[in-house]
Amino acid sequence: MKQGIIFDLDGVLISTDEMHYTAWKSIADELGIPFGRKENNLLRGVSRMASLDIILGLGNLSLTEEEKQNLAERKNDRYVSLLRSLTPEAVTQDVRDTLIKLKRRGIKTAVGSSSKNAKLILKLTGLAEYFDAVSDGTNITKSKPDPEVFLKGADYLGLSPQACAVVEDAVAGIDSANAGGFYSIGIGDAASYEKADAKIGNIGELLSII
Ligand code: BG6
Ligand code: MG
Repeated sequence: MKQGIIFDLDGVLISTDEMHYTAWKSIADELGIPFGRKENNLLRGVSRMASLDIILGLGNLSLTEEEKQNLAERKNDRYVSLLRSLTPEAVTQDVRDTLIKLKRRGIKTAVGSSSKNAKLILKLTGLAEYFDAVSDGTNITKSKPDPEVFLKGADYLGLSPQACAVVEDAVAGIDSANAGGFYSIGIGDAASYEKADAKIGNIGELLSII
């Protein structure tokens, strides 16, 4: 049995992945780059600037650093204005029940997210109170698939990676967890990724596999 679970945020605990998609799509449309849900899956777990580079690559566009900074800023402004509509009702009962049951079992929980907006999301949704630690885009220098975000999360919990499982919806996130020596659990888009140690159809299934 694992002593700690580290949860990715966007797309695992809350459907902000849809808001990322809407915001990036509006930028891609302006640039005339075809961008759909399939392409959006490439951005899961990836940092803001790396996501922009992937989109520009899809359109064979090369821009200056200043142009890229402006686009990334505009994307974030749109994304944050979408986030402002988040309330605690955006968190499913399944997510809440699972987090409560883990706590009752004495399992420590952390968030492991590449996002610099993670703390804002946790505050708006009331999710912050469920976690013992938060490791996010503000405390890392290397984004997923590098393991840094989860290694820091385990460290904040006072646990080794071997004592922790990671729940992820991103291929890059599963690679990150595996590289750090964590037990990786795929959900959503990552539930069909062969490198995940375990796969779940919904978050409640976690309780029977850890
Ligand atoms: C991850 C998302 O959680 O955070 C990515 O899966 C996103 O799609 C990344 O690019 C960075 O987010 P932010 O909020 O810092 O732009
Ligand atoms: Mg995610």
